[in-house]
Amino acid sequence: MCPVVPQPLCVSIDGHLHGFRVTLAFLLSMCLSRMMFTAACPPPCLCASDIVSCSGRNLSTVPPDLPGYVTRLDLSHNVLTALLLDWSDRRLDRLTVLVLSRNAIIHLAPDAFAPTPHLRHLDLSSNGLSWLNASAFHGLGELEVLLLFGNRICQTMAGAFEGLSSLERLYLGGNRLTAFPLELYQRNGALPRLRFLDLSTNMVRQVPVQSLLSLATWQQGGIYLQGNPLVCDCAFFNTIYFTTVIRLLFNVIPTVWTDMETDCQSFIHMNLQIKK
Ligand SMILES: *[C@@H]1O[C@H](CO)[C@@H](O)[C@H](O)[C@H]1NC(C)=O
Ligand SMILES: *[C@@H]1O[C@H](CO)[C@@H](O)[C@H](O)[C@H]1NC(C)=O
Repeated sequence: MCPVVPQPLCVSIDGHLHGFRVTLAFLLSMCLSRMMFTAACPPPCLCASDIVSCSGRNLSTVPPDLPGYVTRLDLSHNVLTALLLDWSDRRLDRLTVLVLSRNAIIHLAPDAFAPTPHLRHLDLSSNGLSWLNASAFHGLGELEVLLLFGNRICQTMAGAFEGLSSLERLYLGGNRLTAFPLELYQRNGALPRLRFLDLSTNMVRQVPVQSLLSLATWQQGGIYLQGNPLVCDCAFFNTIYFTTVIRLLFNVIPTVWTDMETDCQSFIHMNLQIKK
């Protein structure tokens, strides 16, 4: 049973301490009590293998005594309103997937994810976040996917995404962003591996086309902007027409561009909609 929770104490039983029966018995009892402590499934959650699900339990706080071996923790469909620094009373070093979607989270403490430094997938979709403070995701250098769609984010503070050096996919759709978050690609806030950025269904009116053109093609091709009230002028149109940047828009609404070609004399206000 011990290998479930590898601890130095347990490992050494087969090694150096072989033969010392009293010590062995003592260590074994330590080992078992430790295992029972860490392996217990915190009510009202369900545990299977290294997965803990506390989804849909009307939880307003994260259950205490989460087992240290958990690799995937599902807290979705509850009524959590905040994630404070001490939401977990121990470090969850093996946790790679944390699902917090469909709660009512409006507050993320700076360094809130300090207990979970090895997260690769963090789902905060469908909550009530309205702005992301600096250091919100501090320490998540291994995070690859961050889901934030369906919040009320109107602003991402400088530094909010700082340090997310492995982040490849960022879902910001269905929020209230009014400006294109160019800092995701520039300077200190840059996410060097970001290849997918969903900004669909926000309130972005201007796209910094020139800046985006300087990005690598693998970055340009992954920007999704459908469902924004983009204001497109002729320069905008001409610049992107032959590029891949907003090729997604073409996929989405090809007819608008035909109109624009014939009517490219003045500013045109378009409300791009998803058309299948
Ligand atoms: C959820 O919990 C609150 C108290 O925290 C309680 O008033 C409410 O009835 C619960 N709802 C359900 C559906 O159990
Ligand atoms: C951001 O910081 C401000 C002030 O420190 C705080 O009032 C606010 O709740 C924080 N936002 C979030 C989403 O945690």
